Amino acid sequence: MAELRNIVVLTGAGISAESGIDTFRDAGGLWEKHRVEDVATPQGYERDPALVQRFYDARREAVQKVSPNPAHEALARLDREWEGGLLIVTQNVDDLHERAGASRVVHMHGELLSALCPICERRHRWTGPLIERPECPSCEARSLRPDVVWFGEMPYQMDRIYAALRRADLFVSIGTSGAVYPAAGFVRDAREYGARTLELNLERGEGSYWFDESQQGRAGELVPAWVDEVLRS
Ligand code: OAD
Repeated sequence: MAELRNIVVLTGAGISAESGIDTFRDAGGLWEKHRVEDVATPQGYERDPALVQRFYDARREAVQKVSPNPAHEALARLDREWEGGLLIVTQNVDDLHERAGASRVVHMHGELLSALCPICERRHRWTGPLIERPECPSCEARSLRPDVVWFGEMPYQMDRIYAALRRADLFVSIGTSGAVYPAAGFVRDAREYGARTLELNLERGEGSYWFDESQQGRAGELVPAWVDEVLRS
């Protein structure tokens, strides 16, 4: 801990589970109820845009009814109090890190509360539904889509993420199954660049093997304890 200065935190659906948002791959998760090909690919959107808009409209509405949990709050405290480098890279499309007060956050898979115009390529904060094809506030085209990254599309801000991984002394992965690349590969990238690696997750997974240390438990308990430890160091 004495040498610790730059930290990269990767979060996944598990950090928001205790706020009441479904994960993807746990029993009863989103990918048991919906086909990835239908709701999370550009081809699915082309085939049936209304189905896809309804899926994200429902999630956009739901996310505004939940609150950050102690894990989000602990990371926000780390963001406020940690004077070294920090980047919270989230795969989550909810805004719970920000609502807890964190600002050094990158949404690599996009954001539910944002709409993307494929015509003018602008992004707009969006809290309502998109199913009725509202106009883009910039170019007035009626083509707004959810500003989420689908399979086959390029995640956001990869240059910034890899720059932070190269500088990291510690890489911490929280509540992600490590099933989706490129995020699943960050642990190996961070190790190669010389960082220590820690996993905080409900259960061990195939990816746990790559971490120097892996702790099992609920994010709402493990994350506040880890943040206390870092801020004391
Ligand atoms: P997953 O659903 O694949 O994994 C969630 C992980 O969180 C699992 O390993 C659970 O064991 C763990 N978990 C569940 N509850 C937890 C809790 N209370 N505390 C700690 N851990 C808990 O979700 P992600 O790994 O985030 O991408 O999925 C990655 C990407 O796959 C998503 O961003 C999404 C999805 O397809 C796209 O849609 C592009």
